[in-house]
Amino acid sequence: MENTTVVGIHKLELYIPDSYLTLNSLAEHHDIAPEKYILGIGQSKMAVPSPDEDVITLAANAAQSVLDSLTSQEAQSISTLIFATESSVDQSKSGAAYLMGLIDIQSNCRAFEIKQACYAGTAGLQMACDLAKTRPEESILLVASDIARYKQNSPGECTQGAGAIAMLISANPDIVEIDPERGFYSTDIMDFWRPNYFKHALVDGELSKDAYLNIMNKSYLNYIHKGGKSLAEFDWLCFHQPFTKMANKAYRHLKESFVDEMKDKTEASYAITQTYGREIGNTYTASLYIGLLSLLDNAEQDVSGQKIGFFSYGSGAVGEFFSGTINQNYRLGISTKHNKLRLSERHEINYDTYIDYMYQTRDVGQLEHIKSQSKFRFIGITDHKRVYQRCPMLKRKAA
Ligand code: CAA
Repeated sequence: MENTTVVGIHKLELYIPDSYLTLNSLAEHHDIAPEKYILGIGQSKMAVPSPDEDVITLAANAAQSVLDSLTSQEAQSISTLIFATESSVDQSKSGAAYLMGLIDIQSNCRAFEIKQACYAGTAGLQMACDLAKTRPEESILLVASDIARYKQNSPGECTQGAGAIAMLISANPDIVEIDPERGFYSTDIMDFWRPNYFKHALVDGELSKDAYLNIMNKSYLNYIHKGGKSLAEFDWLCFHQPFTKMANKAYRHLKESFVDEMKDKTEASYAITQTYGREIGNTYTASLYIGLLSLLDNAEQDVSGQKIGFFSYGSGAVGEFFSGTINQNYRLGISTKHNKLRLSERHEINYDTYIDYMYQTRDVGQLEHIKSQSKFRFIGITDHKRVYQRCPMLKRKAA
């Protein structure tokens, strides 16, 4: 018998660092026209983690916000904690295991980490949807957390960013119902990678842009082959956004490749998904879902019932095209006022501080005076063990 359980995203919470660098400031130090970064790349600010923040603390903040919004019955239903990241902190222990010691989650759950560059968040989402479909009494806490770091003074530097998204995936979700049809395309390509001995990613920029666009088309065709909707049926398109200009390129590529299906589409079909990303920068695994949140938080009209086509891309490379429908209760699962407040209350740092923070030229212990507003802090490494601290006094501000 066909399983008709509807599954998808029930809660969606964002966490970004307190600090940012303006792309104007970066351009000044690179001695290039700021228009290249602001217009050519499409970024205005880069979220910068403090030395006491890493992917674990970012993830813990986002995940705790989801947990704080749940009823006790919903919290008890969490059977699985999935941590998706490109910027893992350990070769063996998962980020999810670290989270078990920091957030208020029941211990009777399986906790693990998954990786495939920026695609891992979507791998986690689809895995979680399948689990919720076969076991509708269970829900899954999925956290996608990343710090995008490239070599200093390299072309990728202007696309850096940091942030985390946490989602509760369940049956009968409040926010987005994810359709069962999904199209994939995977191949072995060296467009972006990070050897174990590097903190920063290596990238072949031109190859990565071409691979993204080619794999998007192939993934969409596979999605159609599996019975998915035509591009013409979507109210919104939400693309993985390494920098917002890449979403413009993706839209134009679809427009050129699928002329009939795209003929009634305008830039308005994706522009609103770029609002947050432009202010944050690349967040790898979280980026697609920050695009979704940007749409839900910033849409002027009620978007209930509207359909979204998603494209997820992870260099290396894996692409997936999938779709979903926004539920009429979507506003119950997001924290719009809080997200906007968080973005507006961050503070600007200067270039020298950015270099200290992003490239960690000094040890966290030497920066003891720096305390981010995070509920969770990374306080250093003792006996090769990462040590974290929960700051009980810091409560999320009422929006
Ligand atoms: N005013 C306005 N625009 C200007 C300008 C000016 N003064 N000067 C340059 N520009 C424009 C250029 O015309 C160009 O626009 P188009 O792309 O529309 O042609 C744009 O600014 C960028 O200029 P360049 O192509 O010369 O930039 P670059 O070569 O220095 O770097 C990049 C661009 C290769 C994307 C680099 O930022 C990079 O390597 N980024 C990291 C890799 C990446 O994000 N790849 C995306 C696909 S891979 C992926 O999606 C996975 C992931 O998350 C990493």
